Amino acid sequence: MKSKSASGKAHSHMWLVGVTGLVAGLALMVYVPSLKAVSQSLFWFAGFHLIGGIVLLGSLYATVGRRFRQRADALDFGWAPAWTLGPLLAAAVFLAMALAVQIAAPSWWPSAVVLTLLAANAFAGHLVAASTARPDHAPLPLIDLLPNHHGLVLDGGCGAGRTSIAVARGLTGANVVALDRFDSDYIEGGGRALLDRNLRLAGVAERVRVQAGDLTGLPFDDACFDAAVSAHAIDHLGGATEAALREMRRVLKPGGRFLLVVWVPGWTMFAVANVLSFALTTRRAWHAMARRNGFEVLDDGSFNGHCFLLLGKPVGAKTRHD
Ligand SMILES: C[S@@+](CC[C@H](N)C(=O)[O-])C[C@H]1O[C@@H](n2cnc3c(N)ncnc32)[C@H](O)[C@@H]1O
Repeated sequence: MKSKSASGKAHSHMWLVGVTGLVAGLALMVYVPSLKAVSQSLFWFAGFHLIGGIVLLGSLYATVGRRFRQRADALDFGWAPAWTLGPLLAAAVFLAMALAVQIAAPSWWPSAVVLTLLAANAFAGHLVAASTARPDHAPLPLIDLLPNHHGLVLDGGCGAGRTSIAVARGLTGANVVALDRFDSDYIEGGGRALLDRNLRLAGVAERVRVQAGDLTGLPFDDACFDAAVSAHAIDHLGGATEAALREMRRVLKPGGRFLLVVWVPGWTMFAVANVLSFALTTRRAWHAMARRNGFEVLDDGSFNGHCFLLLGKPVGAKTRHD
């Protein structure tokens, strides 16, 4: 409680100083143009306080505000504010910096242009990141996953259920096993409580079994699933990626299909992660990894800016691939 009121005070202080500095700078500029240096200093001073105000307001909105934004009847995937609001905050800060530069030092306009472009890029990243929290935004292209729409489907790395719900809703004859370690720090509480809540709200709880487990050592027998999906989970595993691909293949029945969804370098991820996006595994490398671990690549494409690969375990395949 104490820290909340302290941050509230700091927050109002930032805005007060920022707005006062801006008004004073504008008044000086208009009525006493000879004091240009003073009005410019005031603009710099105001600009930094306004940026601080935006950052504080954004963090309050993201943390305290989250509790009030959750609607009782709406799905909530629990994404951390850093993911859904971070790029928006970055856009606001870049824009405030561009304005401050343009007002206080007009001759530096090329810097203001660069800062505005960075703001536009970060805003595009915000739209991409925020769309992954939208329950009406298709998280999976399911058409070819389970040809007769009946069977048992594994969702590896289900998080708070976004993809398990998509499978259960899209394939009405399927049952789903939703597996996760439920320990990720970027989903509220690791996702377990939100998953139960979301499955219930989506009306699919009786067709989805929740299982705690690790993607690199799945707690299932060989060849027990008709199909599998995994969205934005296997690409979180670093050096263990190929072990997880082998595990997904092991638990699939021969002829079964695996829909893998990952982020790859490109414009979409450049908007979200800027230069960090260049470090992502490329689409071509995912193809090579899938083949190396005993899958056929049946289809490959993009949707909503995500990359997907539809992989198949060959019909006559041995269960394990070494
Ligand atoms: C970005 S979330 C994706 C959740 C969901 N598939 C979706 O698209 O909304 C990644 C999930 O993978 C899970 N995960 C990461 N490494 C894992 C591992 N080794 N075993 C099981 N789950 C893991 C995390 O706990 C997290 O819930």
